[in-house]
Amino acid sequence: MNPPGPPDDPHAELAALVRDVRNGLAWRARGGAYAAPGGRTARPPAAPTDAAVSAPAPDLARVAPAAVAARAIEVAVDVEAPALGPARTLPVIREDLGECTRCKLSETRQKIVFGVGPALAPLMFIGEAPGADEDRQGEPFVGRAGELLDKMIEAMGWGRGDVYIANVLKCRPPGNRNPEPDEVAACRPFLDAQIQAVRPRIIVTLGRPAANVVLGNDAPISALRGRFHEHRGVRVMPTFHPAFLLRQPERKRDAWSDLKQVIAELERLGVAPPRPARG
Ligand code: URA
Repeated sequence: MNPPGPPDDPHAELAALVRDVRNGLAWRARGGAYAAPGGRTARPPAAPTDAAVSAPAPDLARVAPAAVAARAIEVAVDVEAPALGPARTLPVIREDLGECTRCKLSETRQKIVFGVGPALAPLMFIGEAPGADEDRQGEPFVGRAGELLDKMIEAMGWGRGDVYIANVLKCRPPGNRNPEPDEVAACRPFLDAQIQAVRPRIIVTLGRPAANVVLGNDAPISALRGRFHEHRGVRVMPTFHPAFLLRQPERKRDAWSDLKQVIAELERLGVAPPRPARG
């Protein structure tokens, strides 16, 4: 296993390794895998396995119930995170993905949407699945939600070309329906491999499905956003999906507060944005 972290920081690498082993043992102790509510539940979900590493509690009282229930999701959530193979480069991972037919989405997609960004990016954004524009162009977040994501990244002092952007699913679900468990299971090894290759210092997940898949839980986004979690030694900040923010612009303030925490944490880690952040 090759845990993410800077190659020149053996302490961070060792700490990540210890955390991996500890999490692995905890997963094993709980055993099994389950699907999120509404899915094919094999056993009741265990408590979230991610460790909250900084915890200003989210202000649940301010979260509109409609927003929480906005999308009933059926996303496969692996409590048992799949084992990682040796790290591969992004071009090798793309080659391994090939003209993928591992799930039924291959029958309806136009283009595979693998991911974009530099090979080693300090910041990685993970969305849910390509939409119609992304399916046509083969690039993540190029539609209206993508325009807003670009603005969010720029407000943080970064540019789209400085960060890595990927989705849980690499192919568009027809009609933008929710990802199904078998589709997530088929794509998951490629997302894991991308994270392993990019070695981001911080991952920002966009929307509930991406947060649930990365963190291996089924909690609503309102319970996850606003504080850091951890995935294989990488800090993860779940925030709202830009498509949701387009529908509920009054929640942009909350998303910006999440992103400001990311800016501050990157700074603490010694990673400065190319330009000063706004606000
Ligand atoms: N929504 C996503 O989650 N990903 C995209 O690439 C586009 C829209």
